[in-house]
Amino acid sequence: MERVEQVGVLGGGQLGRMLALAGYPLGIRTALYDPEPAACAGQVAPLLSAPYDHWHLLQQFVQDKQCITYEFENVPLRTAQWLAERVPVRPTPRALELFQDRLSEKRFLRDSGIPVPRFAEVDIAKPLSALESVGCPCVVKTRRFGYDGKGQVVARSEEQFLQAVRLLQAQPLIAEELVPFDREVSVLGVRSLDGEVAIYPLVENHHREGILRLSLAPAPNASEQVIAAAQEYVTRLLQSLDYVGIVAIEMFQVGEQLLANEVAPRVHNSGHWTIEGAETSQFENHLRAICGFALGSTAPRGFSAMVNLIGELPPVEKVLAIPNAHLHLYGKQPRPGRKIGHITIRADSPGQRNNLLEEVFALYPPGRVCPSRPHSSQEHAQG
Ligand SMILES: Nc1ncnc2c1ncn2[C@@H]1O[C@H](COP(=O)(O)OP(=O)(O)O)[C@@H](O)[C@H]1O
Ligand SMILES: [Mg+2]
Repeated sequence: MERVEQVGVLGGGQLGRMLALAGYPLGIRTALYDPEPAACAGQVAPLLSAPYDHWHLLQQFVQDKQCITYEFENVPLRTAQWLAERVPVRPTPRALELFQDRLSEKRFLRDSGIPVPRFAEVDIAKPLSALESVGCPCVVKTRRFGYDGKGQVVARSEEQFLQAVRLLQAQPLIAEELVPFDREVSVLGVRSLDGEVAIYPLVENHHREGILRLSLAPAPNASEQVIAAAQEYVTRLLQSLDYVGIVAIEMFQVGEQLLANEVAPRVHNSGHWTIEGAETSQFENHLRAICGFALGSTAPRGFSAMVNLIGELPPVEKVLAIPNAHLHLYGKQPRPGRKIGHITIRADSPGQRNNLLEEVFALYPPGRVCPSRPHSSQEHAQG
């Protein structure tokens, strides 16, 4: 196999930035492609800025790359397929195709034997049949381009459901039952070119206004049964798609059951803690996988918490004065609702982790969510 020395990354946001940074010690050079000239990964690696259908510049972009990956799942499928005719694209563009659309995503999961909430395609000509199959309360979502809770509306009555459909109907829609979950968790797995699979510990996630605020890893009080189910689901997904790279499955935990909500065919926000909190970070393991190397250990190094910095920054010098606090700033202009950095706390016991987390929360109240008392699902799902 040709040795991979240069990787092209479609998308130049913070995920691309952290991928690029992880490449340096391995001697893997990355270059980013993003229509936005100010994309923040361009501060740490070469960035080519052009539309995703600028075939001439894409041709130039692939020229010296041995492999292409993506950090953004809304890269046009056509672009990924076009590139895949020239150079290996990992993970496969098939993953983009499946997981860009919430309907094909949920069907794929269901058909793979991975439990999902009740869902139905919304037919604009007769929307109430979707409501009949999912029940009330429910969530109406655009099938494509949703992120951080955008493009979703919760409905608690037939009238609200019809209102939600009217509001969003410019785009194809899906309806899902509103799951009264006990908590949200995610599982990140990685598969190498040789078919080796490694899985990170289950993560507990807290969202507010549809945006991830806090992740705890390993997820506190996860039973053997729940951990085994998560591992089985992610392994099945990786193997059935002949997948290469990192994948994340976001899930709702209800009692001892897991229901899959979303799949991200890329490195994921709920895996940022792995930079300090695992033996090998998700970013390094993604590069190892797509470049044809053996995977690194996914074992946790103690107990971690990751707090997203959204819209505004805490006093940086005070964060850095907290023991075992690791600050990551993405070089993005602060804007309401925008992810501009994160803090990871790494500790040797859950108690120490919680104490350090309290110190972070004292500086950064917007990040405050209470791990022991998850918000109700009503507060999570907002349009
Ligand atoms: N069917 C559902 N039942 C309960 N809560 C939901 C449901 N769908 C979404 N949510 C809440 O909204 C958040 C964002 O929804 P998600 O489908 O993950 O979209 P995205 O992350 O792409 O914005 C979820 O993490 C969860 O808190
Ligand atoms: Mg999500």
